[in-house]
Amino acid sequence: MQISPQLTARFERLQNAYPVKRSALIPMLMYAQDEFGFVGEEMIAEIAGRLDLRTVQVEETLEYYSMLHRKPMGKHHVQVCTNVACMLRGGYDILEQAKKRLEIGHKEVTKDGVFSLEEVECIGACTGAPAIQVNYDFYENLTPLSFDKIIEELDAGKKPAPVEVISGALHPRDPQETPLISRLFGVKDSRKIDVYLQHGGYQALEKALKEMTPASIIDEVKKSNLRGRGGAGFPTGMKWSFVPKDNPKPKYVICNADESEPGTCKDRPLMEMDPHQLIEGMVIAGRAIGANRGFIYIRGLIHTGAGAYECGEESALMESLEGKRGYPRIKPPFPAVVGLYGCPTIINNVETLSAVPAIIREGGEAYANRGTPKNGGTRLLCVAGHINKPGIYEIPLGMNMKKFIYEMAGGIPNGKKLKAVIPGGSSCPLMTADEIDLPMDYDSVAKAGSMMGSGGMVVMDEDTCMVDMARRIMHFYAHESCGWCIPCREGTTWLRKMLERFHAGLGRREDIDLIAELSKNMLGRTFCPLGDAAAMPTISIVEKFRSEFEDHLNGRCAYKNTEALLGAR
Ligand SMILES: Cc1cc2nc3c(=O)[nH]c(=O)nc-3n(C[C@H](O)[C@H](O)[C@H](O)COP(=O)(O)O)c2cc1C
Ligand code: SF4
Ligand code: FES
Repeated sequence: MQISPQLTARFERLQNAYPVKRSALIPMLMYAQDEFGFVGEEMIAEIAGRLDLRTVQVEETLEYYSMLHRKPMGKHHVQVCTNVACMLRGGYDILEQAKKRLEIGHKEVTKDGVFSLEEVECIGACTGAPAIQVNYDFYENLTPLSFDKIIEELDAGKKPAPVEVISGALHPRDPQETPLISRLFGVKDSRKIDVYLQHGGYQALEKALKEMTPASIIDEVKKSNLRGRGGAGFPTGMKWSFVPKDNPKPKYVICNADESEPGTCKDRPLMEMDPHQLIEGMVIAGRAIGANRGFIYIRGLIHTGAGAYECGEESALMESLEGKRGYPRIKPPFPAVVGLYGCPTIINNVETLSAVPAIIREGGEAYANRGTPKNGGTRLLCVAGHINKPGIYEIPLGMNMKKFIYEMAGGIPNGKKLKAVIPGGSSCPLMTADEIDLPMDYDSVAKAGSMMGSGGMVVMDEDTCMVDMARRIMHFYAHESCGWCIPCREGTTWLRKMLERFHAGLGRREDIDLIAELSKNMLGRTFCPLGDAAAMPTISIVEKFRSEFEDHLNGRCAYKNTEALLGAR
């Protein structure tokens, strides 16, 4: 097998880049796939040799990740997202058009090897839905017609212009927005260090290094009331204070940039448009806990993951970073004590770490005052689905949800009524139109029975079929369940099947309660929170939209043509 000099150089760099060689495995597999279109037997042996692994160890990791292929894909690998935000804006129409136009199905390759097709889960372009990815390029706001044009150009050997930044990241600022961590969005060359420096960049780091001790940095972050933006909302300063000071082992900072929660697409623009802010935040975090090494874990790209939702979970992410399958670890011990390579580690979301320079610059109290008591600062919200102005907005924590939807995001298109809202990513319980008149902070949304989650809001109008929504959400979790524990593996698979059958008009009356019961049986009984993430939205849909399930018992979906649906799946 002939390997190009570029790939050889990349392999050699990676082999020496990590404290433990195996960590280079997934990035090496990704680079190999970039060159050959797939990872074949010879390449597996080559990589195993370079990393002192057995081929079976490379194979078991390779099999786990959906972005890695053992068979050749087309020169242009077309990935069509049909997850919630895309589904609401015609994602399935794009998929049908793709099948028709390319004359191939899911995971198939055209005879000439030019195209392959894959129906995929959220690609983090929700505010530009419906979206597709072709190799590493994104195309957004598609119609079947514009999709055809892209295929036509690719077929003719041309490259249609992909979107440069995610649609929705750049829009005229609303006066009620409070741009702090997104303040450089739209500024020319914002990703360059000179521009960052011109806007006060790295001043916080200088202050942290010259004027502050590790303890005073942690105190400042505690004062800011910053809570993790990755989903769980854990207080950041407290997390950092758990790292033992007397542990002689190396310490690590990991940035969780997996961004896998459907509906969420804020971390990518934060990194694309203001990468230095994140780096500054990571270095300050490193000083606070005494770490001298950090990793940014991104699916598909710095340290590459390879497409598994579960790898967003912090302990599974560390397994993945160590070059293994992304199975979660038993907790305790928590990562702050036993993390990456068995060493103390903090893991934070991109948005959390990006907020750190502002906290140090303006002081913890000033940052806290931008939000509400116990919910400090600002939050990036991505709003997608049936909304007039889908986009990424930076708002003060505590802003009213109804006001946000109707004023800042422009309300519901075509004069339709609002039916439901996913407030912060598809694992959150859904809220009805009557429940949204409340402040958007962690505590108020939790009190109302849902979660702020990862900031991925998805809005549904009155014409949305909620059974179909439950079906699509469960399809995702069943697909992403790593299969490690039985309640999640079996529960999500059965629920997916039941919901598909139900929506196709083949459900039984007793299934309605069974769907809720099965979901409740998963709650709190799975090894990691993915089981809860699958159960919570489902329970809320059955409870709040039961009548729509009953309507389906007559064999028809009131909102869609049942036959078309059967054909689509
Ligand atoms: C199944 C699952 C997927 C997750 N995916 C992500 C993710 O994509 N990005 C993220 O930052 N956190 C994700 N989390 C949360 C992480 O486990 C962890 O709480 C977070 O990275 C901590 O950072 P924070 O305190 O800054 O929020 C996920 C959790 C679970 C259970
Ligand atoms: S809950 Fe699901 S994703 Fe988590 S360990 Fe169990 S099977 Fe894997
Ligand atoms: S990009 Fe399709 S749902 Fe997020």
